[in-house]
Amino acid sequence: MANYPDKVFLNGEIIPSTEAKVSVFDRGFLFGDGIYEVMLQINGSYFFGQEHLNRLSECLHKINIEYDVTVLPEILKKLVSVSNLEHKDCLIYIQVTRGIAPRKHAFPLDIEPTVMAYALPFLLPEINDKPISVITQKDFRWHRCDIKMTSLLGNVMANDWAIKNGHFETVFYRDDKITEASHSNIFFVKNDVVYTHPADENILNGITRAIVINLCKKNNIEVQEEAIMQSDLPMVNEAFLTGTSTQIAAINMIDDHVYIKNNKIGPITKKIQQLFLNLKNSQTKRLPQVS
Ligand code: PDD
Repeated sequence: MANYPDKVFLNGEIIPSTEAKVSVFDRGFLFGDGIYEVMLQINGSYFFGQEHLNRLSECLHKINIEYDVTVLPEILKKLVSVSNLEHKDCLIYIQVTRGIAPRKHAFPLDIEPTVMAYALPFLLPEINDKPISVITQKDFRWHRCDIKMTSLLGNVMANDWAIKNGHFETVFYRDDKITEASHSNIFFVKNDVVYTHPADENILNGITRAIVINLCKKNNIEVQEEAIMQSDLPMVNEAFLTGTSTQIAAINMIDDHVYIKNNKIGPITKKIQQLFLNLKNSQTKRLPQVS
């Protein structure tokens, strides 16, 4: 069950979340004009924290918001500590919007971004061993899905549609190519080769996606950054989703195509799940150290 955090970082202060207020003229509120990031602390360590902060910085740069993310490690350290989560598993949410200005489409000059972050307890299973089902839908989102923006209406509508129909996720296709899901990336296994859509403007380049590609490369599993077509779905042997909170979730069914019977996860998905678990267990604190 989702919860509100007790404490929130907002524009330089850590305050009770009930006192955290943002102007109605904030462009995050008016236009969804902002970038967000979600990362985990596992076993007291940030899991690929540097990579998450790099992506945040790159996305801010893509939409011309000036904000120096190198201040965040110190802020997050304090936030996690006041949230009593120092040595616990937790999820960290960070959001940077363009800031407050009278409503006009073009970017206003010389405004301060609004920065908000919070940490919440978050328990993940060692391995996500519950296969999930997904449905497909035409990718009706915009053409810059590489930007992790707060205006998530397309993703939200697609996910809601999946949940209302009893599925975990909606998987998008664009021009017959499977792109990604509403809050996760998708991988396929066909004839012992692992496939995922290339990291272009049609998908978010997931941190978990990059981890999985590297794990494949290091462990002699052939991997191709090449889209699977909808028409390939009957020929696929295994499929799985990746994401920060999803981890690696085996897919038992995409529309009418069944990949898993009796909860028996395919051998390559299982191997990647195990490699991912080994990596989690071997992680030490990787968030950039504050000097
Ligand atoms: N979702 N694709 C989309 C559209 C996403 O929103 C996400 C992440 C991913 C996977 O990215 P990563 O492996 O870096 O988490 C792919 C986050 C967790 C969210 O919106 O809550």
